[in-house]
Amino acid sequence: MSIKTLLEQRVRAAMQAAEIPDNCPANITISTRPEFGDFQANGAMGAAKKLKTNPRELAQKILEHLDLSGIADNIEIAGPGFINIHLSHSFLGEQLQKQSDQPLGRSEVEEKTIVVDYSSPNLAKEMHVGHLRSTIIGDAVARTLEYLGHNVIRQNHMGDWGTQFGMLIAELEEQLGEGEQADLALGDLEVFYQQSKKHFDEDSGFAEKARDYVVKLQSGDNHCLTLWKQFINTSVAHSEAIYRDLNVTLQHTDIKPESAYNDDLAKVINDLKQQQLIVEDQGAQVAFLEELADKKGNPSPVIVQKSGGGYLYATTDLAALRYRSGVLNADRVLYFIDARQSLHMKQVFTLAKKAGFVNESILLEHHPFGTMMGKDGKPFKTRSGGTVKLTDLLKESVERASKLVAEKNPAASDEDIAGIAQKVGIGAVKYADLSKTRTNDYIFDWDTMLSFEGNTAPYLQYAYTRIISIFRKAELDVSTFKGNINITETKEKALALKLVQFGEILQQVADEAYPHILCNYLYEIASAYMAFYEQCPILKANIKQEIKESRLALSLIVADTLAKGLELLGIEIMEKM
Ligand code: ARG
Repeated sequence: MSIKTLLEQRVRAAMQAAEIPDNCPANITISTRPEFGDFQANGAMGAAKKLKTNPRELAQKILEHLDLSGIADNIEIAGPGFINIHLSHSFLGEQLQKQSDQPLGRSEVEEKTIVVDYSSPNLAKEMHVGHLRSTIIGDAVARTLEYLGHNVIRQNHMGDWGTQFGMLIAELEEQLGEGEQADLALGDLEVFYQQSKKHFDEDSGFAEKARDYVVKLQSGDNHCLTLWKQFINTSVAHSEAIYRDLNVTLQHTDIKPESAYNDDLAKVINDLKQQQLIVEDQGAQVAFLEELADKKGNPSPVIVQKSGGGYLYATTDLAALRYRSGVLNADRVLYFIDARQSLHMKQVFTLAKKAGFVNESILLEHHPFGTMMGKDGKPFKTRSGGTVKLTDLLKESVERASKLVAEKNPAASDEDIAGIAQKVGIGAVKYADLSKTRTNDYIFDWDTMLSFEGNTAPYLQYAYTRIISIFRKAELDVSTFKGNINITETKEKALALKLVQFGEILQQVADEAYPHILCNYLYEIASAYMAFYEQCPILKANIKQEIKESRLALSLIVADTLAKGLELLGIEIMEKM
């Protein structure tokens, strides 16, 4: 149980004894300044308002019934009726000790089946920076949910179907006809896409063939399907190479692309029709959703079938939802998609619920994110204005990191530098993204993200290696070290207070799907550790064995917390840097 929950229970019990009704919460918060204690109970004010009595007197009454023996060594009333709670050093020490004896930050959870839809690139083109955010934010949240004990099912809803593929396979056919090998022709998907687009725009015969191929593909023509599979396989391989470089947990088996739902689409339309949820409008099948009407009262239109009979992005998402609820038995479905698709998600969720495609208690959550901007404040582009390929971006990051690492360690071998640079470079790109509130746009800036100071991956990775080097210097093995924690100094207490919050932070990330909460927390831990390290020497000759041991034990929990936190963010650590 977290300290906050424990305090909540105790204060509520005291409120009960003081005859304050159940609907008045204890309202426990973490104090913002040390003079206000470590935690405060703010519930007296709210309760006094309801009961129309004096809040300070009510706080006094609560205090008379409040039993925090063994937990706090000082409780006082401040201001209009705040109850400031100063935890005792021994209690904090015990809590930390308990925490480090079990998997860090984990507690009993009610296991849920949680589907996480993330990455989901379109396979017509190479993965570009637009897919970076979904991939790494989704992965961090999936890892966290899994660590907390949930049954996480990753779904990579890749875009592998649609009109573009007619053009692409027609182009592939021509290039293969000229003796080109498929993987060579598709070595650079961006170039290939441009070539086929040009071909399509300039050659009407080719354009006609491309349109014909779409129809053939959709009706299961063997020749077209073979070409399409060749294209898809190559494109998927491109994405998977990036997942490996990025240290993302997505596996081949997590891919459930749009085409996987092809056979369900006609059924989706039929069901909607039978329930009279769609009508024909200018030849198309459309649902008009009153629930999402605009200010003037016009219902929100969702086209689920085009006039020519073709299906749309929304149709596939409806089929996917039915599968996720009905077959995967999801309790919760999380979508990590660009904020520009917010309306689409709302429409799909609303229509799926109305049509009974999902069970009633399911939680459907779109977790949107903003755009990655260049230093000029415009969407991130190459110097010539093109989209930045993810591969190129990651390569550049590792190269930059490699230069920095070599500067810092002139004596290190090339092999060591390459190993460290990979983790630092990739970590920096990921952390720069994860550490920003995801709903905002953010500015991509190499110098800040690769800095060894501030709220960055290199800073946290470095903080970790520093602790490991203390153990190395002391000739102690981190995997077997055990020490009694005995808190005496203020910086020790501040650090311990932060450390015991790890579980709550993870829970918050799991509930709200905002990884920056974990990033900020880790940064605060590293900063609190630096402050502790300055005030509380560890290996100095005059330090008593008992104190040394306690400080080493604290250091080790910091290292473990940083390591686990970074792992959940998908960022690798190392022993030396
Ligand atoms: N392929 C889409 C895109 O690149 C994202 C798909 C997200 N997932 C979903 N179920 N709609 O924009």
